[in-house]
Amino acid sequence: MEHSHTPAAAEADGDAYRIRPLQLADLSKGFCDLLAQLSPSPPLTEDAFRARFAELAALGADHLVLVAEDAATGQLAAAGAVLVERKFIRRCGLVGHVEDVVVGAATRGRGLGERLVRRLVEHAKGRGCYKVILNCTPELRGFYAKCGFVEKNVQMGLYF
Ligand SMILES: CC(C)(COP(=O)(O)OP(=O)(O)OC[C@H]1O[C@@H](n2cnc3c(N)ncnc32)[C@H](O)[C@@H]1OP(=O)(O)O)[C@@H](O)C(=O)NCCC(=O)NCCS
Repeated sequence: MEHSHTPAAAEADGDAYRIRPLQLADLSKGFCDLLAQLSPSPPLTEDAFRARFAELAALGADHLVLVAEDAATGQLAAAGAVLVERKFIRRCGLVGHVEDVVVGAATRGRGLGERLVRRLVEHAKGRGCYKVILNCTPELRGFYAKCGFVEKNVQMGLYF
């Protein structure tokens, strides 16, 4: 059951925002504008978008990008991804990695981010992952706690 602030809001938002896999047509539905709210991200050319889309499609269900489409405008209101990592440890266990979760500024605070993250987690669980992990800034601890995550370990980075 997806979280909601009130049953009425859940019903309204369930109808108002449809969560579904990314499609090629989404380039013209504000996908780049959403990504730019996550990290500096210049608009993608259609060729670049198509090429990356094809690469990701080749990974099948091991890489899923979900978006939430605003039924009223046809524009995207949120996006997020989950990758399935195939390990040798844990008897060749699988680990889900949640990445690039963003809700458009105008739609924040209505439960859409949590619905999206829960859908990404469900996908990883459905693939057989024994855990799902993600990196986030300290300010987002509360949000991910609401999504069921607990704080573990330390994140390290090396940038080029
Ligand atoms: C973080 C983000 C995805 C949250 O999406 P959202 O749709 O606004 O969040 P929701 O409305 O689903 O919030 C779910 C719950 O988490 C809480 N929450 C949301 N953002 C929070 C924050 N920054 N700190 C603490 N709690 C937070 C909400 O209050 C809500 O709790 P409630 O059920 O008690 O009311 C969105 O604000 C965003 O896109 N931010 C910018 C991009 C970003 O930082 N992405 C994360 C990359 S790791």
